[in-house]
Amino acid sequence: MTDNMTAIEIAGYGGPDVLKPVRRPIPRPGPGEVLIEVAAAGVNRPDVLQRQGGYKPPPGASDIPGLEVAGRIAGLGEGVGDWRPGAPVTALVAGGGYAEFCVAPAPQCLPFPQGYDAVRAAAIPETFFTVWTNVFERGRLAAGESFLVHGGSSGIGTTAIQLAHAFGARVFTTAGTPEKCAACRSLGAERAIDHRREDFVAVVQEATGGKGVDVILDMVGGSYINRNLTILALEGRLVQIAFLEGSKAEIDFGPLMMRRQTITGSTLRPRSVAEKGAIARALKEKVWPLLDAGKVAPVMFKTFPLAEAAEAHRLMESSRHIGKIVLTTGRA
Ligand SMILES: NC(=O)c1ccc[n+]([C@@H]2O[C@H](COP(=O)([O-])OP(=O)(O)OC[C@H]3O[C@@H](n4cnc5c(N)ncnc54)[C@H](OP(=O)(O)O)[C@@H]3O)[C@@H](O)[C@H]2O)c1
Repeated sequence: MTDNMTAIEIAGYGGPDVLKPVRRPIPRPGPGEVLIEVAAAGVNRPDVLQRQGGYKPPPGASDIPGLEVAGRIAGLGEGVGDWRPGAPVTALVAGGGYAEFCVAPAPQCLPFPQGYDAVRAAAIPETFFTVWTNVFERGRLAAGESFLVHGGSSGIGTTAIQLAHAFGARVFTTAGTPEKCAACRSLGAERAIDHRREDFVAVVQEATGGKGVDVILDMVGGSYINRNLTILALEGRLVQIAFLEGSKAEIDFGPLMMRRQTITGSTLRPRSVAEKGAIARALKEKVWPLLDAGKVAPVMFKTFPLAEAAEAHRLMESSRHIGKIVLTTGRA
């Protein structure tokens, strides 16, 4: 093994072209970490924000973008007993994914689901960790409840629709084109609302007989915040995971009190290894059997060679994609 690898660097904040292939030293796994020879790395909207300068890596994380990888174990740090060199692995990382090698904390590593290759395995961690912790832990979505996810065709949205449906919820979603809406319905959404042609408040009110939905997962914010609260049921939970339209709104909190609603939210990346490890264990127990059985699966849209990361970002920013965009290294 040489000491150097190809990685994608953010050479100054800006448009997709600031993503540049460079040579970097292969990172070394510290205590409790593994070194992964990366075959594939998922692309996520937070990587776009990081490239633009709006989402800095947490202290200690690599400056190389990339929050999820899949490949083979290439080295073990001190104290790691549950992985063997050569084993296929997919991992959630706080950075460093757009590279031929990446270090990951062992508790954030999971095996490939049955029948998966590295490209599909790399498309799992970021959205499945995020949806699990926000929809099922924070939002406490339960079987028989109703659920609305905005951005249904996104990586997050396609995962949220499938998991909510698989766990017995009634699913509503919004998406930006008729084609995206059809894709969302095929994943288990009872009603996919084209937000460019329809008012999601009116559609949800009518579909639920005025009761509203029990849980909303929102990445839009801005003008959606008040509209979400209007259709949040008694004891409903609104979970914010991003603010694509903005994080500010003027809110009348009266209805929130009268209807005993909860507003919450979280970001995954800065959470501790122990917290992410707990999410990984819950996913292994509750969601991996569904992935193994093919009952839920990442929705694959397009792959790009690692060196074409800029093209992958251009596609993501165009919002033409449905599901996941993945980079491949040609290794492992
Ligand atoms: N909090 C966390 O821990 C966490 C973790 C991961 C991701 N996220 C966030 O979750 C969101 C989805 O991530 P992803 O990787 O799945 O992204 P993605 O695939 O790029 O999806 C974003 C989608 O949002 C929709 N959208 C709605 N309003 C929008 C607006 N005003 N501007 C841009 N897009 C808008 C777009 O589809 P249509 O316009 O067709 O509806 C777009 O496809 C991102 O905002 C990301 O930052 C949060």
